[in-house]
Amino acid sequence: SNVDDNEMQFIKMHEYLTDLYHHVLMHTKEGETALEYLEDRGFTPEIIRREKIGIAPSMKDFTKNALTEKGFSLEMAYQAGLISRNEEAFTYYDRFSSRIMIPILNHQGYNVGYTARSLDGREPKYLNTPETAIFQKRRLLYNLNDARKAIRSHDEVILMEGHLDIVKVKMTAVQNVVGLMGTALSDEHIRMLHRLASNVTLMFDGDGAGQNAQLSLGETLLEAGLDVFIISLPKGMDPDEYIEQNGREAFEDLVRSEKRHYIHFKAEYLLEESMNNDMAFSTNLKTLTGHMKFVKDEVIRERLIQHISQLYKIDAKSLGQNIPAPAKKGS
Ligand code: GTP
Ligand code: MN
Ligand code: MN
Ligand code: MN
Ligand code: MN
Repeated sequence: SNVDDNEMQFIKMHEYLTDLYHHVLMHTKEGETALEYLEDRGFTPEIIRREKIGIAPSMKDFTKNALTEKGFSLEMAYQAGLISRNEEAFTYYDRFSSRIMIPILNHQGYNVGYTARSLDGREPKYLNTPETAIFQKRRLLYNLNDARKAIRSHDEVILMEGHLDIVKVKMTAVQNVVGLMGTALSDEHIRMLHRLASNVTLMFDGDGAGQNAQLSLGETLLEAGLDVFIISLPKGMDPDEYIEQNGREAFEDLVRSEKRHYIHFKAEYLLEESMNNDMAFSTNLKTLTGHMKFVKDEVIRERLIQHISQLYKIDAKSLGQNIPAPAKKGS
């Protein structure tokens, strides 16, 4: 897509502020607490520099004043989502304050927004750039520009929930990771994923929200013709916490060795309620065989039939006969 003059100006404002926020974090007193916080969480100065993570300090009008001094238009900064506006007094004030600023680059590597983590416990914990001409959540995959090469070479994209999870994972050998801006998966996202790889692996938080998101996004992606895999994290852990607790090598092993096909994962998930509930048993088995028609790879199909027949203690042959023929790509 082409970038017009206004949009280039939006991007320049972001690049200016990102350098400034990063400088404040690394080299000033206003950044000390945040830098210590990040280092306590295992983020090294090297990764903080590489990602240009910064801080919007709690000083009043810090961003507004910095933009004004540099000669940027506040009206434009408002349109770019960098500052807020009081619609009655028509005055501008800082949107981001006392927050760790994580720059978000688009697929071309332009800095188009931020996700900002509160430092003082204030809600919301994460505040994102609002929708703007250059920041459209339905079109953004966080970290795509950096991950593209690794995604192509593995023919796999790993999708995670949290931005700081992705930053932490980038400190390991696993580089093919991207994130949504929230949990909504758009048609644009699906098209982007399709163009990137044939395999999508979901690695969401090991909590109820993460599991539900994996179940629902996984189904959508499977039906869109992608091969979907799940890496389950231990209860209550996200990728960042897993790496802090077990180290990067354990994480790399997990990514290499613990990849269940979506249908395998779902078969295990549905098993418990199926065991003492014959009605659920039948419904769940139909759900699983219904999903099977989206699996085109013969080897994976065979393997999934084995898994399901063992888990549900039914004959593999008759199970196979109940599976609809594979769907054509895109249908
Ligand atoms: P940390 O404490 O920084 O590790 O965050 P977390 O692991 O507790 O984040 P959580 O698992 O709650 O959320 C995962 C992701 O969901 C975050 O990275 C955000 O992208 C998003 N998220 C979490 N809380 C909020 C919120 O208050 N507002 C918005 N817009 N997004 C949020
Ligand atoms: Mn949380
Ligand atoms: Mn969570
Ligand atoms: Mn976390
Ligand atoms: Mn989390």
